[in-house]
Amino acid sequence: MRSLPKNVRIVEVGPRDGLQNESAIIPTPKKAEFIQLLGTAGLQDIEVASFVHPNRVPQLADADELVRQLELVPNVRYSALVPNMKGLERAIQSGIRRIAVFTAASETFNKKNINMGIQESIDVFKPVVDRALKEGLSVRGYVSTCFVCPYEGPVTKEKVADVAGALFQLGVDEVSIGDTIGAATPRDVETTSGYLLQQFAGHKLAMHFHDTYGMAIANVYQALQMGFMIFDSSAGGLGGCPYAPGASGNLATEDLVYLLDRLGIKSGVSLDLVRRASYFIARELGRDLPSRVLKTA
Ligand code: HMG
Ligand code: MG
Repeated sequence: MRSLPKNVRIVEVGPRDGLQNESAIIPTPKKAEFIQLLGTAGLQDIEVASFVHPNRVPQLADADELVRQLELVPNVRYSALVPNMKGLERAIQSGIRRIAVFTAASETFNKKNINMGIQESIDVFKPVVDRALKEGLSVRGYVSTCFVCPYEGPVTKEKVADVAGALFQLGVDEVSIGDTIGAATPRDVETTSGYLLQQFAGHKLAMHFHDTYGMAIANVYQALQMGFMIFDSSAGGLGGCPYAPGASGNLATEDLVYLLDRLGIKSGVSLDLVRRASYFIARELGRDLPSRVLKTA
């Protein structure tokens, strides 16, 4: 067993992965307030929106206006999903400085999610990433369904490595490894993420766990022991993918911060202030959020 890392970077995806899965549509100024609360809580990477087709994810159809309304907190990197050149043009127009392209390790999911096969998506991303880098934006990549696909079942580690490698080849600076339907266990993380570590630098791989089976925090602990240092999470445990049946909330940011604090690992995030952000969005949504830590006094 390796020693645990001293520092971890959290990528907060609540405003995007979280709100994309809610039936309620939050007004743009309230989203901006939520994002500001997250920034002041010490989250330095916040994924705020998606420049996808507005009919496909109506909850995030205000991406262009939202980015313009953000009151930027110093030293925070704001990012948004971009699936194609049209999305990139909207992103550039909005003024956002970091984008994320997203594909999958299973064909069926990718087709249902972005209407492209895996290789087709890489071909579509190539000019998008080239242009984004030329414009001075930075680019993250996502691979979904890295452990289990809701349509095809278990996914091989070799396939995940192929797709992650293709994204790195395009010039993304980091690849997020998605357990889209929250089905992975620590054993799967050891196998698949361990295989990735043999081929890519660990500090360029993020772990993106959903919590459908309550395994997310166990998977984080497994990944920490393997040396991973970047984790995606969502305030309150909001989240899911509308095109992945059975996908529930992301790993909750509070639960992650609690674990890191208790292990003595620095994230720069204030647990109290994240809770404040989560209470805020829970009030706007009119429902309790799944985070365990949020339920404590
Ligand atoms: P398509 O229908 O194949 O697109 O959709 P198209 O290129 O054929 O264009 C059709 C029409 O859409 C055209 O308009 C385009 O202009 C328009 P028309 O000429 O008919 O009037 N269009 C757009 N409009 C606005 N913004 C755009 C855009 N692109 C085309 N960017 C597309 C392809 C990818 C756009 C669509 O399938 C889509 O929007 N999908 C949404 C996918 C999504 O957001 N899924 C959830 C996020 S992924 C996730 O949650 C997983 C993750 O968290 C990791 C994990 O957990 O695993 C990241
Ligand atoms: Mg996700």
